[in-house]
Amino acid sequence: MKKKQLYIKTWGCQLNQYDSMNIINILGKERYELSKFPEKSDILILNTCSVREKAYEKLFHLLGKWKNIKKKSIICVGGCVASHVGVLIKKRAKQVDIIFGPQTIHKLPNMIDEVEKKGNFLINIKNLTNEKFKRFKGFQKKNFSSDISIIEGCNQNCTYCVVPYTRGKEVSRNLFDILKEIHMITKFGVKEINLLGQNVNSYRWKDKDGHIYLFHDLLRIVSYIKSIKRIRFTTSHPLKFTKNIIQLYKETTKLVNFIHLPIQSGSDRILRKMKRSYNISKYKKTIKNLREVRPNIMLGSDFIVGFPDETEEDFHKTIKIIYELDFDMSFIFAFSPRKGTVAENMSNQICEKEKRRRLHIIQEIIKKQVIKHNENMIGSIQKVLVNGISKKNIFKMYGTTDNNRTVNFYGDKRMIGRIIEIKITGFNSYQLTGKTVN
Ligand code: SAM
Ligand code: SF4
Ligand code: F3S
Repeated sequence: MKKKQLYIKTWGCQLNQYDSMNIINILGKERYELSKFPEKSDILILNTCSVREKAYEKLFHLLGKWKNIKKKSIICVGGCVASHVGVLIKKRAKQVDIIFGPQTIHKLPNMIDEVEKKGNFLINIKNLTNEKFKRFKGFQKKNFSSDISIIEGCNQNCTYCVVPYTRGKEVSRNLFDILKEIHMITKFGVKEINLLGQNVNSYRWKDKDGHIYLFHDLLRIVSYIKSIKRIRFTTSHPLKFTKNIIQLYKETTKLVNFIHLPIQSGSDRILRKMKRSYNISKYKKTIKNLREVRPNIMLGSDFIVGFPDETEEDFHKTIKIIYELDFDMSFIFAFSPRKGTVAENMSNQICEKEKRRRLHIIQEIIKKQVIKHNENMIGSIQKVLVNGISKKNIFKMYGTTDNNRTVNFYGDKRMIGRIIEIKITGFNSYQLTGKTVN
């Protein structure tokens, strides 16, 4: 039987990337072949993100293009925009055949079959959390590193954020399913695992005997898996960054020397308005405790600039905290009012021009921080997971450090897939150069 052509486009965070990879696996490589060309594909899937306003414009822009190429193809829209606005997508874009949500991706094969037979429109954006995981068949290896989802949803309700409306309440995945998936992927050579969730440190799973496993328990168990050499997680929330998690940084060297812990703002007044549930002094205390057990740990964050009522003084507090805590690679966003969130209707909204000005300033500061940290790394010995042969020079290998820098160095193929020690000798914007240590 001739395989059908499947085109899939993914926007948004790693959770969406992970879902898309599972959509491909669930649909089955026996029936579908991945295509790079939407115009030649039988099934077109768009896995959307709604965290910022532009996502909507982007979605309808792309659907407009697909309308022109649609012949007999089936157009499916999934992800966070789909679960947020559902049938409204169909109202604006008649060419859409299927709307599914982050918790119904496992329903896609049957939905596609039905639309193929009956030519009808289908929507299923129910919150069937944890059901989809039972249908996950495999994974897609990114070199020697692999993502794995451990918790869905978010209970925090930050006043600006749409995620609790799109992904629902927190539901932790069965610990044994997580371990099974990790064991399976290690057979394919995976050495590094990245545990995913909107709030990984809210992980809480009860077994049938009533024993409760929290995030630090999960981390400890994963650290016992011999073939897993490096553990990352994205994203953790400062509120629940417990002493038990910090203790693990002391116990296991498998936890990377980098932590992405979004602070969002340097001003307590803005953090209160954001309903982030921590203040700067608590955040600083967490970092202090972490640096006591891991003095060289690097710190990354998300920042939102131009939140409603953010004064110049608040903004300068954000700049100050970047220097004070010495942030490394971070993501900076201009506040984007999202429909249905509390912040959408807050007074003293900041105009776009001013938001862009603040965004640019923080972006430049972070760029300089990254360069500064690159400079500081020169002469240091870094643990590098070797991913492969450099594209530019066949005698060189490339790999990644704990703090997500790519390093190029002379080496040989036998190093691929191993974690080796590299002395950093220089850098070129975001890439480092180094040499092997005996
Ligand atoms: N759960 C994570 C946390 O709270 O740290 C963050 C997940 S969220 C999908 C990723 C980032 O998007 C947030 O940390 C925030 O900086 C940014 N973000 C979310 N909503 C936003 C909005 N309305 N405008 C601008 N940035 C936003
Ligand atoms: Fe959004 Fe806040 Fe939840 Fe993060 S913690 S996903 S920013 S509501
Ligand atoms: Fe976007 Fe949904 Fe992730 S809104 S950031 S794809 S959880």
